[in-house]
Amino acid sequence: MKKARILVTGGTGYIGSHTAVELINAGYPVVIIDNLSNSNRDVLDGIEAITGVRPPFVEGDCTDFDTLKKLFADYPDIKGIINFAASKAVGESVKKPLLYYRNNLNTLINLLDLMAPNGVRGIVFSSSCTVYGEPDQNPVTEATPRKNATSPYGNTKKISEDIICDTVAAGAPFKAILLRYFNPVGAHPSALIGELPNGVPQNLIPYLTQTAMGVRPMLSVFGNDYPTPDGTCIRDFINVVDLAKAHVVAVERLVEDKCLEPVEVFNLGTGRGVSVLELINTFEEATGVKVPHQFAPRREGDITQVWADPTRANTVLGWNADTPLADTMVSAWRWQQRLREKGIM
Ligand code: UD1
Repeated sequence: MKKARILVTGGTGYIGSHTAVELINAGYPVVIIDNLSNSNRDVLDGIEAITGVRPPFVEGDCTDFDTLKKLFADYPDIKGIINFAASKAVGESVKKPLLYYRNNLNTLINLLDLMAPNGVRGIVFSSSCTVYGEPDQNPVTEATPRKNATSPYGNTKKISEDIICDTVAAGAPFKAILLRYFNPVGAHPSALIGELPNGVPQNLIPYLTQTAMGVRPMLSVFGNDYPTPDGTCIRDFINVVDLAKAHVVAVERLVEDKCLEPVEVFNLGTGRGVSVLELINTFEEATGVKVPHQFAPRREGDITQVWADPTRANTVLGWNADTPLADTMVSAWRWQQRLREKGIM
């Protein structure tokens, strides 16, 4: 049976591109829209090289209602949406809050507005563990209370969850799945797609791999006086391909009308907390490459520790993040090497 088409907004970005690959591998026709603000067209070559399929691509901005309206008219077989189109740098969001509220919220509202008239059955939303703030207890379940956001970026995730819940509760003829990601890392094992941050990376893994490559002289480990076993922060680092696969299962539930509730929420993590130092050690052991690093003061806004209880996703979605962290580190390193070969980094 022919599968329903899935609209992947932000589909040339980091998680979007890996998800497009997994959707195509699972037999879904997709269409990608991206404004290329934090990615480029070459990503389509990578997706095609991996899957043998070049997905149709619309260069456009999801904050523009008419662009999206035309897209739905051009692809009347879209039955599911996975919305990755959003700005995601925590620090930048503090400096440019309106950019974040405008981009992230207008995109979502436009999509929700266009779902009913176009017969779209469901939307998967990229939320984040940031909605839990600094949790009182770890691991966090989906029932762990959400806390006030510490950045406009985090607030857009919280508000977006609320917008979706309110819209569905008001009787919208579609359902939604909120996926709360922990820390996505690594790249496709082919090294044909991966993370390509603009400028100086803010996130740990791109900074680490660039330091290992010699692009940056030294990785700063922000804080070694946290109340954790080795004094550095603890996160739940989840392989990006594992993460992408969860989206395929989620969107399938929506388009095949298998959801148990109008809005379902899932934590996507490994269930294992790993400290920043442990991560550096895992990288060094897995790749045999040293990462020069030094301790630096705590970074403002960082939480001490958070990791997921992924039981719900494991049991309800039948999904597991089972790629070993060492393999994930090797994939991140291969991607960095590939960027060097291409003269990008
Ligand atoms: C943040 C956001 C998360 C978002 C993610 C990707 C919060 C609380 N978290 O995660 O929602 O999805 O970015 O944009 O808003 N570190 C260093 N040196 C570095 C870089 C990072 O030591 O050069 C440390 C940080 O202090 C932190 C850990 O590495 O303890 C992970 O940092 P990062 O990769 O930036 O992700 P988060 O801040 O956890």
